[in-house]
Amino acid sequence: MTARRRILQGFLTAAAVAVLSPFINLIGYFYRKEETSVRRQKIANLKELSPGSYIYFSYPATGDSKVDNDPFRQYVLIMTRDGQLRVYSRVCVHLWCLPAYIPTRGQMICPCHGSIYREEDGVAVDGPAAYQSYPTNALPMGRIEVDENGDIWMVGIEGRIGYGREWHALKPEDLVKKV
Ligand code: FES
Repeated sequence: MTARRRILQGFLTAAAVAVLSPFINLIGYFYRKEETSVRRQKIANLKELSPGSYIYFSYPATGDSKVDNDPFRQYVLIMTRDGQLRVYSRVCVHLWCLPAYIPTRGQMICPCHGSIYREEDGVAVDGPAAYQSYPTNALPMGRIEVDENGDIWMVGIEGRIGYGREWHALKPEDLVKKV
């Protein structure tokens, strides 16, 4: 193979990767198997939260720290700065690092490549995750219930962890129920 041909081949491969990369997560979104484990699990009580506060937790928790530390079990419960409850998967939909919630900014920021997700709906507004195709540009959300004692329960997941959430279909407030 001539040097010229090798250069052309390298160029074409790089171009193909650049064109296809925004769609790679999309393929995973539609082909990944559904999460099957849905369990009602207490996360916290309203008394433990105030606007702009948050709690990291594992779901579904098993009590085995090796299992519970799996990134795909990591979530954050947020009371947004205007007092709304939200639960998000902590797995960035770009390449699966764990974004941190920054209360002063009302955003989750990924330490790896800087994707930024807004607190009100978990949609990526900047960084590589923001350039991915719908629905692979939003964090999966936890379905939660708040009972009469103020206990907050996680009861399921909307979306596919590591891949995204069809956020046009359901409003974030529909995932928070009073029981
Ligand atoms: S893994 Fe989060 S921005 Fe790349």
